Amino acid sequence: MPTDSPANEHHFAHAFNPHDAEMLRDPHEMFERMRREQPVFFSPKLGMWIVSRHNDICSVLRDPARFSSHDAFAGGAEMTPEALALAATGHPQTRTPIDSDPPEHGRMRRIVGSALSGKKVDAWRPRIRELAAGLIDGFVGAGRVDIAAAFAGPFPLSVILDILGIPLADMAQIKKWSDDWFELLFARVPPELQVLRVQSFLDFQQYCERLIAAREANPGQDALSEMLRAGREEQPPLTLAELISLIGGAFIAAGHETTSRMLCGTLHVFLTTPGVWQAIVAEPARIGRDLEEAMRIDSTAVGMIRTATTEVVLGGIRLPAGARLHLLYASGSRDEQQFRCPAEFDPGRANVMDHLGFGRGMHYCVGALLARAEAQIAFELFAERLPGLRLAAEPAPLYRSHMTIRGPVQMFVEWDVA
Ligand code: HEM
Repeated sequence: MPTDSPANEHHFAHAFNPHDAEMLRDPHEMFERMRREQPVFFSPKLGMWIVSRHNDICSVLRDPARFSSHDAFAGGAEMTPEALALAATGHPQTRTPIDSDPPEHGRMRRIVGSALSGKKVDAWRPRIRELAAGLIDGFVGAGRVDIAAAFAGPFPLSVILDILGIPLADMAQIKKWSDDWFELLFARVPPELQVLRVQSFLDFQQYCERLIAAREANPGQDALSEMLRAGREEQPPLTLAELISLIGGAFIAAGHETTSRMLCGTLHVFLTTPGVWQAIVAEPARIGRDLEEAMRIDSTAVGMIRTATTEVVLGGIRLPAGARLHLLYASGSRDEQQFRCPAEFDPGRANVMDHLGFGRGMHYCVGALLARAEAQIAFELFAERLPGLRLAAEPAPLYRSHMTIRGPVQMFVEWDVA
């Protein structure tokens, strides 16, 4: 017998707060208790149902008709009338694949997918290696560095800009715009800062508009020209507002912060699990599996939101139509019913690829191949050039998070310099 929703509002309901600092530093103990004691519960603070088991999460992800992605970005603060009025003066913020449902989803996803195919990613590998090596050249003689600031932050953004054919000189400005946009979507931006953040978003839109116009006039072989070509062939062709959202949102914003945090988070697992970094240095060919296992153990993707389109029963709990669900991918990837000894680093486990670090189903991360290639190349180069890499004794890594992603934003590492 399914339990009706209101009776389920107890236990973790008030204890769970994804914005709590301690919880963000290490959420896994709480996730483990949730999976065991209350795998589906309502959080009045978030106005969402929290879903923590692998099985329940996957049954939602397999069923986009009953669980819509339309409200995927509804994790941010409520906007002030001034901020809304300013936002209305820009291009309408259209949907990207991540917050659209079929059939709209396929149209948008095809465009980004064609620009990020395995063939394309393979062709970029030499250039990705060059960008990574250039950053390492800048700090290899120092013996100590904040790897988030010196490498994990700039590297993925420089890759994305480079493959879009955008000058790297614009990187710092683009980073600021993109961070402000992410904050608007996912964080609790205080009312007094909202107009500033919206203005930044409008500036980013105008930059993308100018970029599109310049590339339309003078197309090349880069990913942006490719998306513009693909966009013209869709029926109906993509509008300017849609192209701006795709380039700014689905490519630049979605593609760098996630990868930056993942690089630091997985490196943290490698350096803190005894013997793993030494094993990688001795045998870089194992990086692929080690990377998947590190993503499983400490997932950058915390979770995503879906909305029930009809009344549903999930994990024995009855949820009303319109219920919003926060699917905890980071918890599902450590579910003991799916993974034996889930807290143990075991890249040899048969189902190492079953983690939810890139989601699952129709919305599976379209940039996963690119992110994996970047991490593989970065760690190969670290193994070659920084073999004695270790986590600095202090300061401790600094984690930042919101409902969607989590990872170190500052992480000091050291190595011996001859
Ligand atoms: C390690 C880095 C990354 C992580 C952890 C990550 C995580 C995710 C996750 C969990 C999803 C599924 C969302 C859902 O279920 O609703 C997703 C989707 C998506 N990701 Fe990534 N991502 C990464 C890198 C990238 C890159 C490099 C790009 C683009 C250049 C990208 C673009 C997208 C897009 C456009 C979607 C939506 C796909 C769809 O809805 O069909 N991501 N990502």
